[in-house]
Amino acid sequence: MTTAQGRTGRHAGPSRAPQTEIVVDGDPVRAVDGISLAAVLVGERRWSLRRNPVGGDPRGPFCGMGVCFECEVTVDGRPGVRACITRIYAGMRVETAAEGEAPHDR
Ligand code: FES
Repeated sequence: MTTAQGRTGRHAGPSRAPQTEIVVDGDPVRAVDGISLAAVLVGERRWSLRRNPVGGDPRGPFCGMGVCFECEVTVDGRPGVRACITRIYAGMRVETAAEGEAPHDR
């Protein structure tokens, strides 16, 4: 029988996985410990993570593997962190530039 926990009922799905809390643009966000920051942000419907430095257009995750740099955010005060190749950890403080300047323009 298939259940929410998988066929055997022994699968450690998201509801049973260890959770951690990070702060994104001042808002507390709970997510599965150790997953990528980009996955957390997209899961929170935060697609716009930075602004194009030329035209100001919103930009967000594209390649998902550290190549395009479209997912850059500021983590614990460090700008230019690629969210797709960064795992979350307890207490991580993330700033996106969804409403303002790109992190590397600061
Ligand atoms: S989505 Fe391309 S570098 Fe992160």
